[in-house]
Amino acid sequence: MKSLTSIILATFGFSFLSISPNAFGDSNLRVSNLRCEHLVNPLGVDAAKPRLSWNLVSQIKSARGEKQSHYHILVASSPEKLATNTGDLWDTGKVKSDKTGQIDYEGKPLQSDTRYFWKVKVWDQNKDPSPFSSPATWQTGLYEPSDWEGKWIGDLTQKKIPQDSNTTQAQPSPRFRKSFDLGKGLKRATLFISGIGYHESWINGQRVGDHVLDPAFTRYDKGVLYVSHDVTEQLKRGSNTIGIQLGNGWYNMHARAVWNFDQAPWRDSPRVIAQLNITYADGSTDSIVTDKTWSMGTGPIVFDSIRNGEIYDARLETPGWNKNNFTGSGWEQADEVPAPAGKLRSQMMPPIRVTQTIKPIKLTEPKPGVYVFDLGQNISGWVKFKLSGPGGTQVSLRYSERIDDRGMIDQENIGAHLRDGGYIQKDIYILKGEGIEEQQARFTYHGFQYVEVTGLPDKPSLEDMTGVVVHTDFETIGNFECSNELINDIHRIAQWAFRGNYHGYPTDCPHREKNGWTGDAHLAAEMGLFNYKLANAYDKWINDFEDEQQADGSLPGIIPTAGWGYSWGNGPAWDSAGILIPWYVYLYTGDSHILDEYYDMMKRYVDHMEAWAKNDRHILEYGLGDWCRLNQKTSPALTSTGYYYADARILSKAAAILGKAEDHKKYADLARSIKNAFNKKFYKGEGIYGSGSQTANSCALYQGLAEESEIPLIIDKLVANIESNDGHLNVGILGAKYLFNALTENGQHDLAYKIATKTTFPGYGYWLAQGATTMWEDWRGKNSRNHIFFGDIDAWFYKHLAGINYDPEAPGFKHIIVHPRPTGDLTWAKADHQSPHGLIQTSWSIKNNEFTLRLTVPVNTTATVHVPGQDVREGELPARDVEGVTFLHATDHTSVFKVGSGTYQFSSSYRDF
Ligand code: BGC
Repeated sequence: MKSLTSIILATFGFSFLSISPNAFGDSNLRVSNLRCEHLVNPLGVDAAKPRLSWNLVSQIKSARGEKQSHYHILVASSPEKLATNTGDLWDTGKVKSDKTGQIDYEGKPLQSDTRYFWKVKVWDQNKDPSPFSSPATWQTGLYEPSDWEGKWIGDLTQKKIPQDSNTTQAQPSPRFRKSFDLGKGLKRATLFISGIGYHESWINGQRVGDHVLDPAFTRYDKGVLYVSHDVTEQLKRGSNTIGIQLGNGWYNMHARAVWNFDQAPWRDSPRVIAQLNITYADGSTDSIVTDKTWSMGTGPIVFDSIRNGEIYDARLETPGWNKNNFTGSGWEQADEVPAPAGKLRSQMMPPIRVTQTIKPIKLTEPKPGVYVFDLGQNISGWVKFKLSGPGGTQVSLRYSERIDDRGMIDQENIGAHLRDGGYIQKDIYILKGEGIEEQQARFTYHGFQYVEVTGLPDKPSLEDMTGVVVHTDFETIGNFECSNELINDIHRIAQWAFRGNYHGYPTDCPHREKNGWTGDAHLAAEMGLFNYKLANAYDKWINDFEDEQQADGSLPGIIPTAGWGYSWGNGPAWDSAGILIPWYVYLYTGDSHILDEYYDMMKRYVDHMEAWAKNDRHILEYGLGDWCRLNQKTSPALTSTGYYYADARILSKAAAILGKAEDHKKYADLARSIKNAFNKKFYKGEGIYGSGSQTANSCALYQGLAEESEIPLIIDKLVANIESNDGHLNVGILGAKYLFNALTENGQHDLAYKIATKTTFPGYGYWLAQGATTMWEDWRGKNSRNHIFFGDIDAWFYKHLAGINYDPEAPGFKHIIVHPRPTGDLTWAKADHQSPHGLIQTSWSIKNNEFTLRLTVPVNTTATVHVPGQDVREGELPARDVEGVTFLHATDHTSVFKVGSGTYQFSSSYRDF
């Protein structure tokens, strides 16, 4: 029988909902934030059974302990059907479940390029249901290769540039155009497009979408991403024109450098396949597809290379080339070209976008005619630069993140790996000589704080330049702040470095290499997951691992790669990214899809390590070890074996989650053997692992390798080591992740905080004292100044200063472990995290010896809350007496409670323990 709610809803529609929270019955719950494949109303969904999820919010602010007991999903083929509560494609009925995410669509088979409409309602225990949510949609992509009717087009005369060429022989960026008539009114039009290396497209002169540097880099001989745009509003009845411009990107990388991308097996001249699928108002359909009927020309971009930069000759502009009735000369019929070997798959991750612009803070002229702009912030992206002068004037812009003593830009730390005299990060603009012009690169990006401009006829002014920040545009889902400004600054530079190092895949640095170094990525993954919604970006990148894995299970140190990195730079401490990142995604989102999808790859890698370690009885000698360390050495075998152990454990747990009982046992046994071998080989007794370095001891603690009985001794030795370093860290990138966590988790939180807040060398505060605006590659600042692999400390802020932790047994923050740890000079800290279940907030402060914790626990989750002190109150009452607050236990310093959803205010009298 239909409930009163659904009948009223069906009759009055959705706007009726806003009137009163409880107009429809008992439920306080409202369903919001509907997502399909983690995205809001996505296009191009190519999963056969897309995952659906939602959030629940309570209409009653003071409500506590609210849960979902049942849900009911409707999926319809039209908004009209959905409005009358007809789930003609999928009607789950009332399902008993507390799941609000990762619900696989199980309705009628989905068709390519079709829009689906859905909504959900839920029940909170035995009460009436919530109203149905507002409707949401998803649109499918092109599932089958046969759905692509078009042909790949390009310019056959643009042969692959010879491999021994230097950059100046590159060809101009090709353009393609096609005009067509639409004789009838439109209902919907979707452009599916893959133009590689990079593409931009226009309809009737107006840019399609706001992505830049699209699509994301993959190894094009294995997989090529296509992008879907709703272009209904851009088309009109009558004549229309579509224009496409291509850049070389990684598909046709000509710059010769250490990593051999110029010799990539996939390398070829740029090409594009596009399909404009049109549904008319009368229901009939049509497609405009790339083929020989398109025409092809060139324009002002005469050279583009992601490493070198771009050359733009404004004299070659052809206004109107992407609009109707264009009659420019030199255009000819486009060539059909071979398709790349990789299979087309949908880009189901956030695109790269311009996310921010910033104004420079300083302009100097260190030599006559040489102008240096200082953005005051190290960014990844490009600039917009206004300039004027006679036609033919050539202006150069060179980008760096350092200046030398004379104030000249210094590219020494970022240009070292190019070969054959190739240059790095330089754009050239040739003026057309028509008033004020604007330089802005398109098919390259740079990492920089300083821009040197030469060749200008007149002195520029500060206002002429704008810094354009460009990176993968994932949603920000975390915020952190505390009373210590140095900690806030570390948080800020970590965020800049993380964002500046994601351009469709995680990179080591945005200038020198732009490589997908695997180790860098997993070291930064947890801080990334606290701050940004990353599940889809990581899903895409782990798919790249599958593409790169060799038959023996080995993985390269950079992904994607053109073949480089299987014999240097890889190894367990780096390539465990293929196991750690799926695991982190599972822990932070609760979504086991990534484990399921890539389980075989993960297993092949662990088996590979097992085969590798066979002769050494589970010890892995291979790998770079604690990279960018200081003077304390740690054997790479120690850290590599530590990752081998972590991986075997994760694989065993993943096997259990996926119902693979045999593997679960097998890899748990393997992990035990590794642990024994590790302790036998590296534990010297008396609390010392290996060389006794900070990294060695904290590795054993962090990875869970130390025997319980030895932990106090190991910690003592670690503390002594830190003290003998004057309270400083003495670690490389691996140790930097272990150290803070190992200390905090073993009773030495105050010491961890002291290390974090040091301002003298070496440490984060030292970087900031030197003017860092991003994280650096090494403690001295000699190399790259935009690396993220020291960034895990930011996850430590969320976990241990603000106190937001996942529970591995109830991942995705279904159960939250709230454990704020006041320390040092901190008088307050707060953080929020938009978890898959909704917003988690913690905010604590100490005032007049009173500790107060304000906490928000999302609906349908529970939290275990650690509050310093014993006489804990919640609101006005002793916490133990409050209904819905369950006292669990207390230690000398902390009381522990369990709560359901809602907002809480715990307080206690505080003394510094
Ligand atoms: C990269 C690092 C990387 C390392 C590994 C460096 O050149 O910039 O971030 O992890 O090599 O060897």
